[in-house]
Amino acid sequence: MSICFPKLVEAAILTSLLAYSPMELRIRNITKTYANGVKALSNVNLTIPAGMYGLLGPNGAGKSTLMRTLATLQEPDEGTITLGNLDVLNQKAEVRQTLGYLPQEFGVYPKVSAEELLDYFAVLKGITRRALRREVVESLLRQTNLWEVRRQRLGGYSGGMRQRFGVAVALLGNPKLLIVDEPTAGLDPAERVRFLNLLSELGESSVVILSTHIVADVSELCTHMAIINQGKILLEADPLRAVASLQGKIWRKLIDKHALASQSAEHKIISAKLLSGRTLVHAYSPENPGGGFEPVEPDLEDVYFSTMTGHYAPAQQQPEREEANV
Ligand SMILES: Nc1ncnc2c1ncn2[C@@H]1O[C@H](COP(=O)(O)OP(=O)(O)O)[C@@H](O)[C@H]1O
Ligand SMILES: [Mg+2]
Repeated sequence: MSICFPKLVEAAILTSLLAYSPMELRIRNITKTYANGVKALSNVNLTIPAGMYGLLGPNGAGKSTLMRTLATLQEPDEGTITLGNLDVLNQKAEVRQTLGYLPQEFGVYPKVSAEELLDYFAVLKGITRRALRREVVESLLRQTNLWEVRRQRLGGYSGGMRQRFGVAVALLGNPKLLIVDEPTAGLDPAERVRFLNLLSELGESSVVILSTHIVADVSELCTHMAIINQGKILLEADPLRAVASLQGKIWRKLIDKHALASQSAEHKIISAKLLSGRTLVHAYSPENPGGGFEPVEPDLEDVYFSTMTGHYAPAQQQPEREEANV
């Protein structure tokens, strides 16, 4: 191709191929109100490319509702979802063939081993040929680092091992879309790192959507992200770019904890945390706010908290616009 086409034409072809990439998940105008009147999703629009995508938000934000909807387990009131050429809401059977879903909470049969249960799920997934199944089960148990403990009962597994087993189940049938809902909640630091490493390998070949309330999950792993709160998308961004756009706008100061209210009245305080018995506050301000604040390198927590407090609200960085800038 590089011999036949001048560079510009080549770039244009490449861009249009990327624009129609079959891997893209498009969520348009999704709204959901539960029977009790809670509006869990309000006009949600997201474009999710291949790779690791982080959906970040506090408890009750609507993350699990969106994940279940994407996993075809629940209907929205309005809106459309497409995965490549598939209409997710109307072609559920086809979507399920290419979908892996790790729910926020899932039960395992405590008395059976990982190997037995995975083998059983593989049969349900339609892998009926015994030799092939053995191969698939072995490769998934190795990939999720459970091969050595494959004969142990699941009831004796740690939280991290159980989550990795959940991923092994979700990966049966080579899904093009993998949805993992709050997988790191409750994992100890070492288990969490192991689990995130496993996910990052998967992100290389498919769409992986990770929901979490932990900012570090997203900053360590995801190439694209959205922040959701009270059913609304507040920000859709590339994490590095979002951090860069806060450069020079985040200021810090150590204060007495009793001074928090007065500081909040005077400054756009985005976060406050305890540090050696005192309170470290971060403030958002395009200019030096004075009053003893010093500049600080922004990070993704600053993006999250300044977005959640409404102090940072750039127009959503829509991928369409990003492509137009290429
Ligand atoms: N089945 C349900 N019936 C009624 N309300 C629900 C149901 N599931 C979730 N909710 C409510 O919808 C909101 C969003 O919940 P959820 O999607 O679980 O958020 P998250 O996963 O971000 O914590 C919350 O207010 C929650 O209480
Ligand atoms: Mg949830």
